[in-house]
Amino acid sequence: MANREIITIPHPTLRKTASKITKFDDELQTLIADMVETMREGKGVGLAAPQVNVSQRVITVEFGSDEDETIPATLYVVVNPEIINQSKEEAIGAEGCLSVPGLTGDVARAYSVTVRGKTKEGNLFKMKAKGWLARIFQHEIDHLNGILFTDRAEDIWETEAEIDNV
Ligand code: NI
Repeated sequence: MANREIITIPHPTLRKTASKITKFDDELQTLIADMVETMREGKGVGLAAPQVNVSQRVITVEFGSDEDETIPATLYVVVNPEIINQSKEEAIGAEGCLSVPGLTGDVARAYSVTVRGKTKEGNLFKMKAKGWLARIFQHEIDHLNGILFTDRAEDIWETEAEIDNV
């Protein structure tokens, strides 16, 4: 595993639509292992491959629950993730991003989402997430479509504070 460099705005890769993954080969496994290490090193709760300058559709998320602190952080790796269902109910939360250093913004997102994709082995991945976990999935999937939280934020401010970066 290797810690990869996280690219920041205005790097053009962050604005590309990432390619669908078709091969579940060693190269993909290395990318995923590196993303997990890079996410943890950066104290992030989520990372999308474009953030390490790889324009492919894979995300890593590591989070427990914002509503139940006894739930331990769980690692999710999703290849070709899609949101197949989302609640009409929205929630506003303050987001940051490892690729947009120094800025935080209030973003309205669906309160719950159903995410479908593939595991790193190519098997079906499907789960329903709510609250902050749902927010992280939406933020990471946005990265695969060249969308940054600053595009969606209702209010953006500069911050030095450590928050959950994605
Ligand atoms: Ni991000």
